[in-house]
Amino acid sequence: MDENLERSESAQQALTPPAATDVRLRADRLRLGYRNRVISDELTVDIPDGTFTAIIGPNACGKSTLLRALSRLLAPESGAVLLDGKAIGSYPAKEVARRIGLLPQSSTAPEGIRVADLVARGRYPHQSLVRQWSRHDEEAVAAAMAATGVTELSGRLVDELSGGQRQRVWIAMVLAQETPIVLLDEPTTFLDIAHQIQLLDLCRELNRDTGRTVVAVLHDLNHAFRYADHLIAMRDGAVVAAGAPREIVTAELVQKVFDLGCRVIDDPETGTPLVVPLSEKAVRVG
Ligand SMILES: Nc1ncnc2c1ncn2[C@@H]1O[C@H](COP(=O)(O)OP(=O)(O)O)[C@@H](O)[C@H]1O
Ligand SMILES: [Mg+2]
Repeated sequence: MDENLERSESAQQALTPPAATDVRLRADRLRLGYRNRVISDELTVDIPDGTFTAIIGPNACGKSTLLRALSRLLAPESGAVLLDGKAIGSYPAKEVARRIGLLPQSSTAPEGIRVADLVARGRYPHQSLVRQWSRHDEEAVAAAMAATGVTELSGRLVDELSGGQRQRVWIAMVLAQETPIVLLDEPTTFLDIAHQIQLLDLCRELNRDTGRTVVAVLHDLNHAFRYADHLIAMRDGAVVAAGAPREIVTAELVQKVFDLGCRVIDDPETGTPLVVPLSEKAVRVG
């Protein structure tokens, strides 16, 4: 379809009832920034349904800013985020929270809160005056805690957990929300290597077994290439490349995005791209 035609149709969809669309979440020509500082301009991003999408890019390139916009925490200065074909700003907040769960890059728990109570807050968007805490809420909380391995921590104070434990509790809260779309900002930060792999496996399960759309900002390129079926590479607030890792990852791309020389070889476990950084200064062994 002609790109401009598609865009003008998107703009119309914001005003008219949602049309059937194969992309539930789309950023359409966003201008994003803070006060007078523009971080992204004309940023257009599709999150393909049912994918595990990874976002990569150097520090401060605007990954978290994009995630905030996609989850409606940050209003664009122009352009629109379209959720199910309708401008996200036009939904009631609770409705957005029933469709999109966000794990922000850093979160602060209310003081003195216990693990099970924090995870239970993920059920808030499902509650109302007429719909109080139910058995299903209880089950969703228990399942989310089991999936993230925090069941044994349920009575502990969140303040007193290790960074890695706390991270898993936050993820449990997002899972308890039971949204079809899950956005995770650096979910593997603070986790040791075994827990990183466990979490990525969990994201893949969520994606493949329950059909959820998972979007994660990941710093470890090799993890991103191994787990994601759709990759968005960003630099300076813009998308440099998007597509399947096997199709788009090259040494040139890594150079362009990170200013890093590298070799790209096949991951011996999975056959996905594996980045081996070049280093003039490294000491060669042997
Ligand atoms: N709340 C804020 N107020 C002002 N500037 C911000 C704020 N959050 C982020 N920025 C700036 O926006 C740019 C992009 O930040 P961010 O989206 O967090 O990058 P990334 O997640 O890719 O590391 C950075 O230059 C950062 O300093
Ligand atoms: Mg960030």
